[in-house]
Order: sequence, then structure tokens, then C-alpha cells
Amino acid sequence: LRRPLPRRSPARSGEASSGCGAQLIYRHPDDQFTPDPQKKTLVILGTGWGSVSLLKKLDTANYNVVVISPRNYFLFTPLLPSCTTGNIEHRSIMEPVRQILRHKRAAVKFYEAEATKIDYERKVIKISDNSDIKGTINETEVPYDFLVVGVGAENATFGIPGVREHSCFLKEIKDAQAIRTKIMDCVETAAFKDQDSAEIDRLLHMVVVGGGPTGVEFAGELRDFFDEDIKKLIPEISPRFKVTLIEALPTVLPMFSKQLIDYTESTFKEEHIEIKTKTMVKKVTDKTVEAQVTNPDGSKSTLTIPYGLLVWATGNALRPLIKDLMSQIPAQKDSRRGLAVNEYLVVQGARDIWAVGDCAVAGYAPTAQVAAQEGNFLARLFNNMAKTEELESRVAELSSNLNLKPGNVAEITAEIETLEKQLRRIKDVKPFNYSHQGSLAYIGSEKAVADIAWLNGNVASGGKLTYLFWRSAYLSMCFSTRNRVLVALDWIKAKLYGRDVSRE
Ligand code: FAD
Ligand code: NAI
Repeated sequence: LRRPLPRRSPARSGEASSGCGAQLIYRHPDDQFTPDPQKKTLVILGTGWGSVSLLKKLDTANYNVVVISPRNYFLFTPLLPSCTTGNIEHRSIMEPVRQILRHKRAAVKFYEAEATKIDYERKVIKISDNSDIKGTINETEVPYDFLVVGVGAENATFGIPGVREHSCFLKEIKDAQAIRTKIMDCVETAAFKDQDSAEIDRLLHMVVVGGGPTGVEFAGELRDFFDEDIKKLIPEISPRFKVTLIEALPTVLPMFSKQLIDYTESTFKEEHIEIKTKTMVKKVTDKTVEAQVTNPDGSKSTLTIPYGLLVWATGNALRPLIKDLMSQIPAQKDSRRGLAVNEYLVVQGARDIWAVGDCAVAGYAPTAQVAAQEGNFLARLFNNMAKTEELESRVAELSSNLNLKPGNVAEITAEIETLEKQLRRIKDVKPFNYSHQGSLAYIGSEKAVADIAWLNGNVASGGKLTYLFWRSAYLSMCFSTRNRVLVALDWIKAKLYGRDVSRE
């Protein structure tokens, strides 16, 4: 027997709109009902853009939903570069996943754990509790009927020696915290009494490898931090502060239009951020970066650059979990950049496995925008699948009643026809189609660049007005009202009082 679902007003099932009462409802939503154990188990790996967008729109009453992720929060990555300098505090862009799940109609299980293996033949996932506190059971298995893989990607190092040991990445909250601490460490050590002059130059040289949006945005934030805060607090060392951005290709931001690339490069020149293009880093030591430069005449030379802080932002690589799954599926043997999926995001050559976001190869760039739209698409797909099953069983039930209740034939036939019409409409799910809204990047000095999709064309803009647009766009895209308020307060705080330079 099915338990009736508790009724919920729209304000209760979603986010609070305004007012104290609404906030209370947001904090204390109605009790959730426990899903029917007979229903299929849908396991979702990850709590990033793809998985959380799926969870947001999924009707969890239709499945036994299990979420597994080593991170018990969603991270709004577009504002992560701002956390490296304290312009935004890290908790302002994190949303606890249990808070998100508490607002779903039916309860969802969450395990803070890393999926270490997807056993595709047995339909089970091996998970490991990698937290610092250990219980008696630290490893176990979770069976699934349907699986959505949204584990993202890890940092690409291309096996370049010294990168993992000596550089900072910029993908997770802990990376931003480590950078923030290290910047201040370099500054305070450079300001140490009687510090050696060459050492001051090295310590204050911040090197960023990778001229994609991550590297460019970080370089811009760093320059702002020095110009707006460090310069005033420690004026004696500030003239020696230097930022260098190293890029292997001939330009930075290759995904932006030519005029915005030129604009970014000229803005960086004004901001005294040195861009070294056609320069490929080959080796990293604890104090230097060794790079191969392609000269204008085509010859190659080697450059050794001393650094105090090195941030490595050269894009994505496959996670071991994904590599292992791909090795189990013969149809994935030619895929290099991730799990090849079809137009319904089904992992090619696999049954009952879907993939979203950076770990999937669907023919789009690895961005939050793509991952979010893929997650939304899968939510519709799973909601439709459940509805189809429900309608089909109702049709089967009514069809058997036709023989048992001959007096009601006309009535039953009419109901069957209505249901079949609904079924045809629901089953007609169109394949996933990505709609590109545009690209935005902050480039420092309160300037941003934007390539916005507009009426089948593209509008390119850069400057201070674009920066206001960048701010309002990201503020409105924050996960919750709470995040929005915290981010806005952080911006106001940094403007009024400066960034907090105390080292953690
Ligand atoms: P993620 O969001 O990375 O989430 C992956 C999830 O999987 C995480 O919760 C992780 O903990 C979990 N996980 C990892 N391993 C396992 C495992 N073994 N088992 C279970 N769970 C696991 N894109 C834009 O479109 N616009 C931007 O402005 C933008 N800015 C960015 C700024 C920065 C600094 C960075 C690093 C990226 C930015 N991106 C931006 C790219 C965007 O963040 C990614 O494309 C997006 O996060 C991909 O979403 P995802 O769901 O695939 O992965
Ligand atoms: P990326 O892949 O976009 O750029 C990495 C850059 O590093 C490349 O240009 C590459 O040529 C360079 N590189 C690689 N190896 C190198 C070496 N050894 N030496 C010097 N340069 C080297 O990576 P990024 O910036 O981390 O972005 C990852 C994804 O996230 C992209 O899809 C990007 O669009 C998205 N993103 C979007 C943002 C936005 O829209 N504002 C912000 C940040 C990321």
C-alpha cells in the first residue's frame, strides 16, 4: 500500500521568499516521508554542479535516493578565486548538502564518503569514509538500480615533475584557503627584518600557470589585493610585488572572442601583470619554475623563474574512479577525456548509468553552465521515467478491470485513452540540448569580460559596466538566499574595511 505524501505549500517545499515566518519555514520544513523500499534505488555520486542541479529538480518520492560525496556541501565555484584573497569568505559560497536534501519531498540518504570503485557488473559502488575521524566501519558497498556519476574532474598536471609537491591548485575550498595563507606567509616573510633583497623579490613573485579563466581571474584578484590592501598596510615592500601569468598557447582566454582577449591583455599590462605566452612549464622546484619558450623566430629557449607562490591552473584530468569505470566498459576504450555519453547522457556501452558535468564527454566545454543544464535534464528524465511507470501500471490495472467490470467499459476505456495520451506526451523526451548563455570572467581592477549569447549571435563587452553585470549575474546565480546575502555582505565589508590579512 502506498503511503499518502504529506501536503506542502509551494513556500514550504522550496526556499523562503522573504520575511521572518518564511525564514522559519525554510529552517524547519515539514517532516519528510520515507520512500517506499520497493522503489528503485537511484544513487547519485558527487555534490557539485551536475549532481546538485539534478537533486534540486528531482522528485525524490519516486526513488530511494542515495547521495555519496566526500564533500558535504555544494560549492559555488565561479566565486572561488575571490576567496583566495579574502574578498569573499569561503563559507559564503558553500551550501550544506543536508540543508538542500532536507527540503526535498521524500527523505534522501547522504553518505559523506568517496566512491572508490563502481562495480559495473554487480551494480554496486564501493565507498570509503575518508574523514579524519574513523569509525569501526570505514569501507562498505552501496547497491544501485540506477546510477548518476557527477564526480567532476581533478587537476591536470600532465605528469610535470614537482607540480603536485610545490604548487597550489584552485579547485576546492581548501585550495583557496591554502593560497590565502601562503600569500600572507610570503608577504610577512618578505617583510622580515633584514630580509635578503633577492629573497624579497622571489617571495613577492606570484606565478600563475595556465591562462584559462581560472588563472586569469586569480591573477586579477591577486593584483587587486595588493593594490587595494597590502600596498596600504605594508607600503615598504609593495613596489616589489609582481604577478606573472604563464600560458603555453599564443593567447590567454582562448575561449573568448579576439577583442576580449586583446582587452584582457591590455588591462593586464596596465595592472602590471606580466603575461608570458608560448611558454610551457616543464619542471617545478620548491623555488623555481622552468619553462620552455617558443621565440618569435620559432627557436626554443629555457627560462628559469623564481617564485614565492605558484598557482597551477592548467585545466582538468580524469579522476581514478572514472578511469577505472572506463576500463570496465569496452565501448569506452577510445574515450580519453571522460565518460562518453549519448544524447540522453547515458554512459555509452553501460546499462543504467548516466554521467553529468566534467566527468562526462557530451561534446561541450567542462563548465558549471553545462553541468547544471545536464543535471536539470536528468531530473526531468528521471521524473518522467517514474511517471511513465506509474501510468503504465494504472493502464494495466484498468485493462484487467475491463473484463471484471463489463458495466463500466465505456468509462474505463475513456480513462485508459486519457492515460495513454499522457503517456505518449511524457515518453516523448527530447535529447539533451545545451543552450549556451555566454562566458564571463573577472580580470581585476573592477573590470570583467563577457561574451553573451544574444539573438543567435554574440555580444562581446569588457570594462567596468561588464563588471557590474558580472557581479549581479553571479549574485543572482548563488545557490540560496543565504549565500546571496553573505556574498553581498562580504563585498561591502571588503570595500569598507579592506580584506582581512590575518593569517590562519
Ligand atoms: P564539481 O562541481 O567539481 O563536483 C564534483 C563533485 O563530486 C564534488 O562534490 C566532489 O566532492 C565529488 N566527488 C569527487 N570525487 C568523488 C568520488 N570519488 N566519489 C563521490 N563523489 C566524488 N564554470 C562556469 O561555467 N562558470 C564559471 O564562472 C566557472 N568558474 C570556475 C572557477 C573555478 C576556480 C573553477 C575551478 C571552475 C570554474 N568553473 C566555472 C567550472 C565549473 O566549476 C565546473 O565545470 C563544474 O564544477 C563541474 O561540475 P561537476 O558537477 O561536474 O563537478
Ligand atoms: P583551461 O583548460 O581553460 O585552461 C588551462 C590553460 O593552461 C590552457 O590555456 C593551457 O594551454 C594552459 N597550459 C596547460 N599546460 C601548461 C603548461 N605546462 N604551461 C603553461 N600553460 C599550460 O583551465 P581552467 O582555467 O582551469 O578552466 C577549466 C574549465 O573551467 C574550463 O572549461 C573553463 O571554461 C571553466 N572555467 C570557467 C570560468 C568562467 O567562465 N569564468 C572560470 C574558471 C573556469
